[in-house]
Amino acid sequence: MTGVCSTGNVDTVRSLGADHVIDHTREDFTQGERRYDLILDNVASHSFAEYRRVLKPEGTLIPNSGHAGMGYVFKAFLLSLFVRQQERPFVSTPNQDDLITLKELVGTGRVTPVIDRTYPLRETAEAFRYLDQGHARGKVIIIMENGE
Ligand SMILES: NC(=O)c1ccc[n+]([C@@H]2O[C@H](COP(=O)([O-])OP(=O)(O)OC[C@H]3O[C@@H](n4cnc5c(N)ncnc54)[C@H](OP(=O)(O)O)[C@@H]3O)[C@@H](O)[C@H]2O)c1
Repeated sequence: MTGVCSTGNVDTVRSLGADHVIDHTREDFTQGERRYDLILDNVASHSFAEYRRVLKPEGTLIPNSGHAGMGYVFKAFLLSLFVRQQERPFVSTPNQDDLITLKELVGTGRVTPVIDRTYPLRETAEAFRYLDQGHARGKVIIIMENGE
């Protein structure tokens, strides 16, 4: 598994289990020689054509970035009708069963959440301002105490 991140996050990404880490400020992974079975795109930093270049012939692209816009997702979907490579948009619809499964995965240590900052409920606006800066290193958590 390869992780792509900026210089300051290389150690974190490696500690999460990436076998290979690419610092996107020094190297453009879409110009490299490696070919990938699946690309989970969280940042929409490249075009679908650039991702396709490094996807294996039957590889899958999952555009997961809210920054991408529906135009990008639609274009990628249309293109995927004509090539073997697949494009599968991911939209999470939280439900109780999935949350219970996630709780078990975290509880047994199979998933380690990366928590950047926590805020009390009254500082929710501040939490969103931080998130909007685009540099969160993992999750930003709002803590709700009893009675809030
Ligand atoms: N599909 C869904 O249901 C769903 C749900 C939740 C979130 N999302 C999406 O998941 C993505 C991540 O969300 P987030 O809350 O973590 O906040 P975010 O602000 O989108 O991501 C911030 C992180 O991305 C890194 N980053 C920025 N440009 C990069 C690049 N070109 N290559 C590698 N890393 C880069 C930043 O590193 P630096 O600070 O070092 O620049 C920072 O660590 C977002 O696109 C969001 O829309 C999707």
